[in-house]
Amino acid sequence: MTSQIITQLETPALLLERGRMQKNIARLRDQLVRLKVAFRPHVKTAKCVEVALAMSGGSPGPITVSTLREADYFADHGFTDILYAVGFTPNKMGHFAALLKRGVMLTVILDSLDAAHALVQASAAMPFAVNALIEIDCDGHRAGILPDCADLLAVADVLAKGGVIVAGVMTHAGGSYDCRSDEALRVMAEQERSRTVRAAERLRQAGHAAPVVSVGSTPTALFAQNLTGVTEVRAGVFVFFDLVMAGLDVCRVDDIALSVLTTVIGHQREKGWTIVDAGWMAMSRDRGTATQPVDQGFGLVCDANGVALPDYIMVSANQEHGIIAHRNGAEGKPLDIPVGAQLRILPNHACATAAQHARYHVLDGTSAVVDGWERISGW
Ligand SMILES: Cc1ncc(COP(=O)(O)O)c(C=O)c1O
Repeated sequence: MTSQIITQLETPALLLERGRMQKNIARLRDQLVRLKVAFRPHVKTAKCVEVALAMSGGSPGPITVSTLREADYFADHGFTDILYAVGFTPNKMGHFAALLKRGVMLTVILDSLDAAHALVQASAAMPFAVNALIEIDCDGHRAGILPDCADLLAVADVLAKGGVIVAGVMTHAGGSYDCRSDEALRVMAEQERSRTVRAAERLRQAGHAAPVVSVGSTPTALFAQNLTGVTEVRAGVFVFFDLVMAGLDVCRVDDIALSVLTTVIGHQREKGWTIVDAGWMAMSRDRGTATQPVDQGFGLVCDANGVALPDYIMVSANQEHGIIAHRNGAEGKPLDIPVGAQLRILPNHACATAAQHARYHVLDGTSAVVDGWERISGW
């Protein structure tokens, strides 16, 4: 590609600092090596083959996806060991079958007797055995069967009798996003581990092989001190990090690899506002920091070089307009940046902000755009 510098980019544009991303990947991979557990990165944050390859150490490895569109796309790029980590429904069976037929080792998840019966029925006519993980509720935040619930064994029995392979158990400790201290994160990581291992042990005692124990969220993956009994960790947002993760002290603001480049389009000086051409279409409507001790509005402002201006946030967002102001409102000094100048805005939630864009403009610590990586969207 012809090289550009960021001042030549039409805004809003999604920027990715490659060096920061590589550092984030190395940090998690080192942690998992230390804890002697395999890595199955969640590619839903990046939805981009270049990023997935970097997470997998350079060549295709096991991945987690959140859509079958991701499964198709990553299979096209040589990824063949794929966990689809959203509960199974029969209307997706044709798509699963097509992926299995092209040689993808696809594993599905489920957490109810209804879904188990539906999977058995839908897979009966298929020439391939289907692998399933039973989803465990380790923290009450979303889906899953409680580790000591009778349904766990009942679901496994329905699957096994119906010819579906009971590959094991999985969980996602999304409750870690509500933890408010390092100690709470360590406790949550141990809870995620122990409850999921307990579920696997119950399955094994009942005669199922259940070799896989799959856990993962970025905060618990990074705060886990012991992963005995766990066979793989899934994490996604760690690759870019974001303001929610910085608010949890899981990373520093300087670790955030993703930002939205925007241009100042005007001012309302009497209100202390600077208006930019990135609104919620560019940032997403995610307000994940709203419930954290420091509310970052729709994003934290950085200068054009990516240096954070900690007093300034996007206080409000329309579709294509963002309003930048001092976080203390009228008491603060307005940002003195002329029309036409650029700023970068760090996202609350990297997955949601990246999803608003079709490509990453890749930077390597300077204002030169060193690469352009496409990303996919949709289902
Ligand atoms: C099933 C599942 N596994 C893993 C993850 C990764 O979590 P994180 O983005 O915190 O790394 C998610 C995120 O939503 C998920 O839904």
